[in-house]
Amino acid sequence: MTGVRETLETDVRARLRDPAYFALHLEAAAAIREVGGLGWYDSQFLRRREVAKRYLAAVRPDALATFTDGFAALQPPPDFRETLIDDVFDAATHAAIIEASRTAAIDTSTMQARENAAFGRDVVWDHPFFLTLQEQVRPVAEAIAGMPLVSSYNFLSRYGAQGKCDLHMDHPDAMFTFDYCIAQDAVWPIYVSRPVDWPTAEFAQHFDPEAIIADPQYGFAEHLLRPNQALLFNGSSQWHYRRPKQAGGFCHLLFFHYVRAGCADLVEPRRWADHFAIPELRPLCDLFLDGETDGLP
Ligand SMILES: [Fe+2]
Repeated sequence: MTGVRETLETDVRARLRDPAYFALHLEAAAAIREVGGLGWYDSQFLRRREVAKRYLAAVRPDALATFTDGFAALQPPPDFRETLIDDVFDAATHAAIIEASRTAAIDTSTMQARENAAFGRDVVWDHPFFLTLQEQVRPVAEAIAGMPLVSSYNFLSRYGAQGKCDLHMDHPDAMFTFDYCIAQDAVWPIYVSRPVDWPTAEFAQHFDPEAIIADPQYGFAEHLLRPNQALLFNGSSQWHYRRPKQAGGFCHLLFFHYVRAGCADLVEPRRWADHFAIPELRPLCDLFLDGETDGLP
């Protein structure tokens, strides 16, 4: 990661000698500063989309509609609603998942420390066995989603007694989530809203999770997952949350994420300039250093 960033920054420094690029770079930095954070976990994609909208309105207003309309493929079908799936795997596979979930090595990265603090969970990303299962499940997810999907990342999530998952909406590299319950010592409800239009920067200025949860227009539904059941939902368009755990000491879940086929560039903000054939987006995309960090002058 460090190497990629160093290369990028070297390239950007070279491009900044071009006065036209430099002028756009300043507009891009201003747009990033104006939008700021949206306020919920995993909101970087929508934040960057809001930044790009603001930036294009300033430097290429004729391209703004092309950009905003170009995300339609990441919206769910109009009548989509989450689906609970029973008896996902046979008994032997479920037993193998339990064993793998107990024995998987937990690394001690910075990301792990953040998962511990923000969610009360240990995480194992893209375990080879679970990657295989994710591909096996993909046709089931496609049938429910009503579209061809490609597997994105997955992770094992071992929630402990401090488990929590505040209201949020996912980055579209997790457009659909197959949330599978491995084992638990008490049911831990998940709440999912109906699919909604993506929230804007203006909406985010007044972001109030409890007001959203209490608002009947969002149509939150409670789901009680038991071992070997799963919930498929459109996490990048449906608000979802779990209340802090109270009833039990652990809940082990597997999250398989899927993206609509053909959307690999669309879900990666660094590729937007090429994907939309809008070269003026390049100085902005150059500031999207990685999934989390923006480079600013
Ligand atoms: Fe999520």
